[in-house]
Amino acid sequence: MPSHVINQDQIDDLVDRAIEARQNAYAPYSKFRVGAAVLTASGTVFAGCNVENASYGLCLCAERTAICNSVAAGQQELVAVAVSAVPLAMPCGACRQFIHEFGKDITVICVNADDPRQRSVRSIESLIPDCFSFEK
Ligand code: THU
Repeated sequence: MPSHVINQDQIDDLVDRAIEARQNAYAPYSKFRVGAAVLTASGTVFAGCNVENASYGLCLCAERTAICNSVAAGQQELVAVAVSAVPLAMPCGACRQFIHEFGKDITVICVNADDPRQRSVRSIESLIPDCFSFEK
């Protein structure tokens, strides 16, 4: 049983914030714009977008910028993460591991930013089973 229960209004609000954040994506190389928003245990939402670089390996994913915004503001416990892209995109492997760090029951909502009814709602555990951890 998840320790945090989120309702449909919270999910819809988080999706809106992820779509809004996508407007700020800096993706001149891939042209693939991604927005993300995280809901913390205290009910606060933090947003992020992908930030690319001419040195391609430095590109930052939207999920990780949103989570870093949250952690930098002192909010380390996450309840849900929304990701927006066109077409709908699932978090990359690195982001799955990164999300898992901040809550084992996190709900991940991926949406098509042009058609937010097109969604995938998954638990982080199902997206990265048996991920790396110092504990077993
Ligand atoms: N990207 C994300 O923002 N999140 C992911 O989970 C996967 C990929 C970004 C990184 C890069 O700027 C662009 O999408 C293309 O890979």
